[in-house]
Amino acid sequence: MTEGRDDRGVAQTGSNARKVFIKTYGCQMNVYDSQRMGDALGSDGYQPTETMEDADLILLNTCHIREKAAEKIYSELGRIRLLKAERANEGRELRVGVAGCVAQAEGHEIIARAPAVDLVIGPQTYHRLPQALAKVARGERVVDIDHAVEDKFDHLPASQAGQIRGRGVAAFLTVQEGCDKFCTFCVVPYTRGAEVSRPLAQILEEARRLVAAGVREITLLGQNVNAWESSDAQGRAIGLGGLVRQLAEIPNLLRLRYTTSHPRDMDDALIAAHRDLPALMPYLHLPVQSGSDRILKAMNRRHTAADYLRLLDRIRAARPDIALSGDFIVGFPGETDADFEDTLTLIREVGYASAFSFKYSPRPGTPGATMEGHVDEGVKDERLQHLQALLRDQQAAFARAQVGRRMPVLIEKHGRHPGQMIGRSPFLIPVVLPASAGAVGAVAEVRIESVRPNSLMAEGAEAMPEAMRLRA
Ligand code: 5AD
Ligand code: SF4
Repeated sequence: MTEGRDDRGVAQTGSNARKVFIKTYGCQMNVYDSQRMGDALGSDGYQPTETMEDADLILLNTCHIREKAAEKIYSELGRIRLLKAERANEGRELRVGVAGCVAQAEGHEIIARAPAVDLVIGPQTYHRLPQALAKVARGERVVDIDHAVEDKFDHLPASQAGQIRGRGVAAFLTVQEGCDKFCTFCVVPYTRGAEVSRPLAQILEEARRLVAAGVREITLLGQNVNAWESSDAQGRAIGLGGLVRQLAEIPNLLRLRYTTSHPRDMDDALIAAHRDLPALMPYLHLPVQSGSDRILKAMNRRHTAADYLRLLDRIRAARPDIALSGDFIVGFPGETDADFEDTLTLIREVGYASAFSFKYSPRPGTPGATMEGHVDEGVKDERLQHLQALLRDQQAAFARAQVGRRMPVLIEKHGRHPGQMIGRSPFLIPVVLPASAGAVGAVAEVRIESVRPNSLMAEGAEAMPEAMRLRA
């Protein structure tokens, strides 16, 4: 959105500045972490670059949630090794770092297996990146995967206004990290560690800074975001509902979202926030994983299908138009056809606006990996296809139901054609609008006229010639 702008706020500019290429895998929390690593490196004199070939430093910010994550990183590192060798022939240096959850899980193994790697850094220690790079410059290969005692957010430099603007009007803000739930399929409690909440004051300060730089929508992030807790200025305990309430008072912060939540941590205060706060968008990602109580128990989800449905009733009573999204796993050990049917039944009952679904993949070190009754891959494939067909139908029905409705759309960027803008509906679906609807950062009230495969067309956007629309 800020093409041609030259105010990224890095310490060093010009052709001699060192350049960093950060490749981000996985979830939105990694996207946020990559931005904050970019901030830390900006203060250290690095400018961002979009291509590996251009970089003096390559950082892979990795994800470990599903199978073969580590193998994919090792093969990427194999390709980078060739690039590094080419550079060495030209007498130029290329430094290579691995960050994120694969770094945390594999640690020294990466240094042993991937000769190109200079630096392995875990998610808790990004604030030490400049010091680690200084050691690399002295010829060391560094592994820093401690669960740091100090709070990295106290030490990371704040994003500069120029950097924030370059990232658009919708921003992420991590408020919570780690997870204590220990679902039996999941590596997160092991790679990201125990739940830690950032303090209220720190979050409010970061949010105000984002808004001052032009941000109009903030998505609060956490592996288990609705377990966030802190104390307010009077020393009283406060949860995510209270946090959202305080954030909603920041002038010009028009929209709030949060992800990902656990059903057990959806408390009354958070549900009331959905009832009371127009800024809190009517969209909720609330994974259930399975509709079978037997499987939910084996997954250690600590809720039944009926608990989940009852919870949705309470949420819908507070905010009737809320759009629901979920995560599903098919083929967890012991899952029978009848268990799978229960999942389909639950999905039919809920009616999802969007969803993510996965085949179970055993993760070493998690209880699920050593359970009896692993499901045949072919069966998993069939179940996944079946489930995804149902979810696709629901998603399409949800989008079709928007046609004819008026809704506020936050305009996020220019389309590829001058006459066109791209925004987002309250329900997170992209909307194509005519430029006359408003500027980037404005909220336009538009009427939805038709549906495209991955977006909605607002009134007036249809008037554009077909060729222009196709480039959207
Ligand atoms: N196998 C398949 N899916 C998984 N997820 C987490 N761990 C696994 C696994 N071992 C899915 C869950 C979670 C989402 C982020 O990834 O659905 O909610
Ligand atoms: Fe993993 Fe989410 Fe379960 Fe925590 S609540 S263990 S992050 S699936």
